[in-house]
Amino acid sequence: MLKVENVTRLFGHKAAVDRVSFHVQASAFVGVIGRSGAGKSTLLRMMNRLTDASTGEIQFEGRNILTLQGREKRRWQGQCAMIFQQFNLVPRLDVASNVLHGLLNQRSTVSTLFNLWSDADIGRALAILDRLGIAEQAPKRAEALSGGQQQRVAIARALMQDPAVILADEPIASLDPMNAQVVMDTLRRIHEEDGRMVIANLHTLDTARRYCDRVIGMRDGRVVFDGTPAQLTTGVARDIYGADASFSEATTSTALPADTPYATAMLA
Ligand SMILES: Nc1ncnc2c1ncn2[C@@H]1O[C@H](COP(=O)(O)OP(=O)(O)OP(=O)(O)O)[C@@H](O)[C@H]1O
Ligand SMILES: [Mg+2]
Repeated sequence: MLKVENVTRLFGHKAAVDRVSFHVQASAFVGVIGRSGAGKSTLLRMMNRLTDASTGEIQFEGRNILTLQGREKRRWQGQCAMIFQQFNLVPRLDVASNVLHGLLNQRSTVSTLFNLWSDADIGRALAILDRLGIAEQAPKRAEALSGGQQQRVAIARALMQDPAVILADEPIASLDPMNAQVVMDTLRRIHEEDGRMVIANLHTLDTARRYCDRVIGMRDGRVVFDGTPAQLTTGVARDIYGADASFSEATTSTALPADTPYATAMLA
């Protein structure tokens, strides 16, 4: 169980995340939605300890992860893998090595420096690539792959950590509709087959509805909705995105996924 308790992150006087509380069961697939600047990335980054909280607590299995330091903090970051909109691979490095980089939290600097991976590690990396349908890409440079393939490599790197939690910050915002679907299907499958918790920031309502068991809506740093996709009515969506917002503002800050027309229709 992940417990976010009254968490606030201030930048200057402005609260990017403002007294946010919610609990997530171990095996949930949660979508976080909200317009640009709502605080979605800041929330995820605090969970992964990429950003510090100003106040509040985040507990995972009874431990406050916001106070972890050094090796303990790195161990937590290993348990809680992060996937980014821009994939964050090493472009000139081959795909298999990028996946092996998922082990960096668990290794000494020396073995990392000399790229000393065990046969077992390499075998696992290849098996994960195979599971995600991209085994044949293993020797290629990451930069030679399509966006959708690169995001699957990033998911493979996350799986290499064997994480309890996968945090995805707009994982499909840079992808065309077909690749967006492949990546979301992949995350959903991992969630269902492995029972890993997934928390994904998503730009559109339709993606959240289609893939998530639960949706958290944020506005101005606050949680303004927390419920099932079925409860996410047009009225609720207006509350999340703002009654005055033309919906295009909530969807055009990044590439438009396939479901934009539907999402736009939701608020028309
Ligand atoms: N490092 C920072 N310094 C100052 N302000 C920041 C910083 N990071 C985020 N903010 C501010 O915090 C607020 C929330 O930003 P955040 O990136 O979490 O929003 P978001 O919901 O992820 O938006 P988007 O959909 O555009 O990714 C915004 O007002 C943003 O300008
Ligand atoms: Mg963001």
